Amino acid sequence: MQTPSSGIQSTLQEHRKFPPRPEFSASAHISTVAQYEQMWNQAKDDPAGFWGEMANQLDWFKKWDKVLEGTMPETKWFVGGQLNASYNCLDRHLLTWRKNKAAIIWEGEPGDRRTLTYLELHREVCQFANCLKRLGVRKGDRVALYLPMIPELAIAMLACARIGAAHSIVFGGFSADAVADRSNDAQAKVIVTADGGWRRGKDVPLKKAVDESLKKSSTVEKVVVVRRTGWHVDMVPDRDYWWHDLMSSASADCDAEPVDSEHPLFILYTSGSTGKPKGVLHTTGGYLLGTTMTSRWVFDLKEEDTYWCTADIGWITGHSYIVYGPLSNGATTVMYEGAPNWPDEGRFWEIIERYRVNIFYTAPTAIRAFIKWGDDWPNKYDLSSLRLLGSVGEPINPEAWMWYHTVIGAERCPIVDTWWQTETGAIMISPLPGITETKPGSCTRPLPGVVPAIVTKEGAELPANSGGLLVMKQPWPSMLRTLYGDHERFKQTYFSTVEGCYFAGDGARTDEDGYIWVMGRVDDVLNVAGHRLSTMEIESALVSHSLVSEAAVVGFPHEIKGEGICCFVTLKTGDGNDSLEKELISHVRKHIGALATPDKIRFTAGLPKTRSGKIMRRLLRDIAAGREQTGDTTTLEDFTVLAKLRENDD
Ligand code: PRX
Repeated sequence: MQTPSSGIQSTLQEHRKFPPRPEFSASAHISTVAQYEQMWNQAKDDPAGFWGEMANQLDWFKKWDKVLEGTMPETKWFVGGQLNASYNCLDRHLLTWRKNKAAIIWEGEPGDRRTLTYLELHREVCQFANCLKRLGVRKGDRVALYLPMIPELAIAMLACARIGAAHSIVFGGFSADAVADRSNDAQAKVIVTADGGWRRGKDVPLKKAVDESLKKSSTVEKVVVVRRTGWHVDMVPDRDYWWHDLMSSASADCDAEPVDSEHPLFILYTSGSTGKPKGVLHTTGGYLLGTTMTSRWVFDLKEEDTYWCTADIGWITGHSYIVYGPLSNGATTVMYEGAPNWPDEGRFWEIIERYRVNIFYTAPTAIRAFIKWGDDWPNKYDLSSLRLLGSVGEPINPEAWMWYHTVIGAERCPIVDTWWQTETGAIMISPLPGITETKPGSCTRPLPGVVPAIVTKEGAELPANSGGLLVMKQPWPSMLRTLYGDHERFKQTYFSTVEGCYFAGDGARTDEDGYIWVMGRVDDVLNVAGHRLSTMEIESALVSHSLVSEAAVVGFPHEIKGEGICCFVTLKTGDGNDSLEKELISHVRKHIGALATPDKIRFTAGLPKTRSGKIMRRLLRDIAAGREQTGDTTTLEDFTVLAKLRENDD
């Protein structure tokens, strides 16, 4: 999609509407439109008053002096206040009946299970916090976590938060190079990993990748290894420690360290359109408040609910809606280690039946896979415990929405299509299940405290049904504070496109009812299976191969993944062939990880470029998608390049 100055054409026509059921509304946290409007208006007109009231939901060691200081991009929330995220997610529940309530219900891919109550989770978090201290981690340090979806990941996160160290989680599907880049950028002192993890019955050798990454790391001093798969790993004396060895002698006494509201809670790397990944930095008070309130409003979390978000904790969705949001609310959160189709395509539905899951939050890419696998799988299981469904990660196609509504929700469960980003920390635009009449494919309206607009590059607001840039006009507590180590890039990336507003790359339109329809990204970032990938990083990986001279990567529509990855590659000499194609695919997997596996590699003698040398991605996108080129090609430098690419179209 091109960055518009006048508007983006919208082609989606969807008129079905689904009002909330009165039984649901009656007991919802936000149960009337008037209540929402009152909250939204108050938050818009008096953000400090509104958020100051909300912040009483958290436990503070020291109350703030000022709710909001500064204007975007330099905002501070709850200035002078002190709290601890781990205390809010654990200790405060121990003073209530929730002490022995299940905090995490975990299931491993091979079928092993573990439930940790709040008391048990607290104990392990305190012990691991003491282990980190023993390894030399101090308040203000960074700890990299490269783990499978096992309880130790949540324990390590909360242990870092407990002592005021920032965690930097690297998704377990990323490669050794990605671990090295991220831990170097964050200057991590310790890495916590596992011998391996399970994925579709196969091992993911995490410790091996860490060993490789450490050849390129200058800052990591210690490695902690969780025994998960039991495979052999090499342990380096005085550098590598088994988790269970450290824990066996660790005390379970560890007071939560009071930190300033603006103290860093974590760094999470996300793809940008240019350069290296961006280390999105979130701070404690604002982030925790945002995730706590949105979990309650959007998922309508109740004490008795069993809640399951299927994301990996390595992504922001897992940070905010498996760990911090649910635990701060004292909820029971389900965590599953493996793939949805292992040992068969009924696994998710079996988990819902087994734990009587009430709230289920997943991604459109998963929903499309379920549709492909057929209705027989969910129909075999009792899904009657479900009362609310959620979607996140990319626009959900109306037909996938309808399937989710009918086959999984039995036309009974409201669907919350939640729009947000790594940078926003918490859900921004979403239906509120007790009051919103939903429309398939629309994330509907902004939550209280969120003031979006759809504008041209010049900042002019666009009328209904005209696509433009989705921006935020007001700051909100859970927004990122900087890109780690590069504050200039932070200002440039998010605050320079539209004067005075936050913009992070999405196009959208509103309809005649004021509902927002997100149309996808306007920059060179792909959304593959709900994960943001930078075309630039994949191109760099390809060019790092000795035979490649130039590469251009574009997305194309993909039935399951939403967007597939198509790479146009120019070689230094000679022609491409099948074996080189395979080699390049594995080269990209090695450099970035399996999630960046190219779907198509097209060898070409040249790439279409403008006279100034810019690759014309729009044309490549058309070719990758098998579309006729209809756009303007007058700036194309060498028309023969395009003709050749068309000739070779398969
Ligand atoms: O393009 C939007 C898409 O995912 C991007 C954010 O990606 P990430 O930072 O990895 O976070 C994903 C999980 C929050 C957005 O810029 N996106 C996310 N949710 C939706 C969405 N697009 C449309 N509708 C959504 N519900």
